[in-house]
Amino acid sequence: MTNNCPYLCQVNTRITQNISIVIKALKRGNAVGIPTETVYGLAANALHSDAVKSIYDIKTRPTNNPLILHFYSKEKAQPYIAEFHEELALLEQAFSPGPITFLVPKTDLVPDLITAGLPRVAIRFPSHPMLRELLSNIEFPIAAPSANKYGAVSPTQAIQVKQHLDGAIPFVLDGGPCAFGLESTIVGMEENKVIVYRHGSIALDDLSVVLGYVPKIKNQTDDLPITSGMVKYHYAPKTPLRYFNASLTPEENIGYLFFSCIPEGFPAHQCILLSDNGDQKQIARNLYRSLIEMDAKGFSGMYIEKPSKKGLGLTLLDRLNRATAKFK
Ligand code: TXA
Ligand code: MG
Repeated sequence: MTNNCPYLCQVNTRITQNISIVIKALKRGNAVGIPTETVYGLAANALHSDAVKSIYDIKTRPTNNPLILHFYSKEKAQPYIAEFHEELALLEQAFSPGPITFLVPKTDLVPDLITAGLPRVAIRFPSHPMLRELLSNIEFPIAAPSANKYGAVSPTQAIQVKQHLDGAIPFVLDGGPCAFGLESTIVGMEENKVIVYRHGSIALDDLSVVLGYVPKIKNQTDDLPITSGMVKYHYAPKTPLRYFNASLTPEENIGYLFFSCIPEGFPAHQCILLSDNGDQKQIARNLYRSLIEMDAKGFSGMYIEKPSKKGLGLTLLDRLNRATAKFK
């Protein structure tokens, strides 16, 4: 990695549970790894421009791809929000703190580097207890994309953040494995209706129950991506990944990821089981970790079951369609 930013650190990355040393590092302008209930984030003080630049640098992410701001509460976020539509407020009451992000008109306090010059800012109120303790003790917003290199699978454990970013950040705050395992659902308003810009950990069905209608999905585009989920090849492992189908027979040197049981004849050492019973939450929680683990085994290819289009299956399908698109 090129190191032309004074805030990139050169030390080995330490995994820690000490919130106060992580806060000190954030105040100094360092980027650090943080746990959230969705995936681990690469966090920095959103008002410190060199710290925010270092996020883009460390991730090798283009600066036209904006960042989410994380706050303890809506009250703390208020100075940065120009307008919070009442339908978004309904969703906020139902699902925050938790894995949902609101794309809302911003005030001038939000730096352009955060929003890539766009008129709206993405804001979320995470529920992870350790992160909430951190957020309750600082007065600045935290900008945090997922803590992976651009285009790679997002980490859901502290050790995976270290594997991605060792030497580029001083600390990863270890809050254990992420409870949800998939990124937050991103919502905003268009013509007085809620739009889903990224499928995420809150399923479309759950949003619909609160809203009384099924929001439109806008996460496919040929134009400039406005969310990372809009990039066609994203969340991709290095090992070619394809969808499994029932006509396949076991082959040597191939890895298999199954949702509820390992079919007869497939050797256990080549297989990872993502849940005991097909439970979507369990599959979601284990998906990225399992992809990263399988990717590291050095197989020449891997197969994964295709999720259904129900509930969280839509989010799983969105991520896996992108992860497999590169290898068609
Ligand atoms: O669960 C999550 O949301 C995780 C954790 C760490 O909070 N964060 C995350 O951030 O997934 P990231 O950067 O990997 O994906 C968020 C996406 C960005 O790629 C960006 O395109 C979109 O949200 N986004 C952020 N701000 C935006 C804005 N102002 N306008 C449009 N899209 C925006
Ligand atoms: Mg990401």
